[in-house]
Amino acid sequence: MSTGQQSQSSGLFRTKTVEQSILDTEEPEHALKKTLSAWDLTVFGVGVIIGTGIFVLTGKVAKETAGPATALAFVAAGVVCALAALCYAEFASTVPVAGSAYTFSYASLGELTAWIIGWDLVLEFALGTAVVAVGWSGYVRSLMANVGWDMPAALSGPDVPGGTFDVLAFVLVLLLTVVLVIGVKLSARITAVVVAIKVTVVMIVIIAGLFFVKGANYQPFIPPARPQAAGGGLDAPLVQVLFGFTPTDFGVMGIFTAAGVVFFAFIGFDVVATAAEETKLPQRDMPRGILGSLLICTVLYVAVSLVVTGMQHYSELSVSAPLADAFKAVGHPFYAGVISFGAAVGLTTVCMILLLGQTRVFFAMSRDGLLPRFFSITHPRFGTPYRPTILLGVVIAIVAGFTSINELATLVNIGTLFAFVVVALGVIILRRTRPDLHRAFRTPWVPLIPILSIAATVWLMLNLPAETWIRFAIWMAIGVVVYFLYGRSHSRLHRRSDTSA
Ligand code: ALA
Repeated sequence: MSTGQQSQSSGLFRTKTVEQSILDTEEPEHALKKTLSAWDLTVFGVGVIIGTGIFVLTGKVAKETAGPATALAFVAAGVVCALAALCYAEFASTVPVAGSAYTFSYASLGELTAWIIGWDLVLEFALGTAVVAVGWSGYVRSLMANVGWDMPAALSGPDVPGGTFDVLAFVLVLLLTVVLVIGVKLSARITAVVVAIKVTVVMIVIIAGLFFVKGANYQPFIPPARPQAAGGGLDAPLVQVLFGFTPTDFGVMGIFTAAGVVFFAFIGFDVVATAAEETKLPQRDMPRGILGSLLICTVLYVAVSLVVTGMQHYSELSVSAPLADAFKAVGHPFYAGVISFGAAVGLTTVCMILLLGQTRVFFAMSRDGLLPRFFSITHPRFGTPYRPTILLGVVIAIVAGFTSINELATLVNIGTLFAFVVVALGVIILRRTRPDLHRAFRTPWVPLIPILSIAATVWLMLNLPAETWIRFAIWMAIGVVVYFLYGRSHSRLHRRSDTSA
């Protein structure tokens, strides 16, 4: 067995041993505080998972792509996530250090793959944070409008006619950056309160909404397929473009197209894994935190989508605030107000945890020398990676201020799905290359579950628009160039192998 001080091969495929990954976290000036329990992780998970996906995307998808069968789209996306979660949980309990899929792939698939995944996660978390901040801003503006305060269009962001800069989204990201610099414990406490509000609001939608469900709204449950309004082109799912189908909405294919979009609603359980290094007992608590939060959210999503499409015919759902507007439609504006308030509060934690995941990936990459080491010096008093937190917080705030959310969401999805594929591959490879490692949680039926996970994930990816694939390819190509210009020669593994040679 290797000593843990050396990489296991040289060049692009050099892997960082699991022992080395854990040793690196013990260097005092690069160490994070271990304060989180399984409960904190579950709260953390639910805090980030329930967000723009269920509060905003449900309406659009039901109206334009899947009708009442949106509930089935949530089931399909949930199954993809559950398979991936089983793989994530094994990795997180085996390699309990910051950085999620990035760290896992460094230990199994080699440095180039690790870089690619790290770069990919930067895209997922940074754009995800921006998407949620803009969604939050929309809810806050709608609440402000209720009490007669209208935000000027110019300060309302590019999604609003005449808008340019979304000042609320910008300010939100900056404030959350400050909270994260001060420390995880404080953020976890805030998260717990906000998660309670958010889950309560979701329960109100389900329970109060049940009284207004009409069976007729479920007819037809799977609306018949019809040609896509836009006529296809690069907006069409890649699978339809590749195989020359006429792109359609609704029908059985519509369920999968919808699943590719509502997948956004599940993003976040993987973020729980990024906090492994800050967890008291990662071997036990990580699998509990990841699988627990995923299960809770799947049940809630299916229930919410069934209730909402039962309250209003899918063709009449609102696309900006569907949960609240369904209550307005049945004559209950009070519930609508409460739901809007809860959504606005809830989206705050989603945004914060995505930002946290983002800074932790950046931190881990910097600690490994793939990004400048300057970024991985933790704060002497707060013990947080304050440098990447501040840098990324400011950049994301600007992106959130100037960007429209629609296209960003699918780009976030493809990035996340890509990471799932790598993690599942990693489970198979690490079982072969390091069968000796202690695995507190073992993915059942390896390699069957990881293979099923890869197949299901790739299927969802194929259902994303062709243009999303193009944008993703461009981002990844830039990443490969940066790796060859900087990361490859500055990597700590590279330097260690030089010194030991
Ligand atoms: N799952 C999170 C959301 O739906 C990212 O907002």
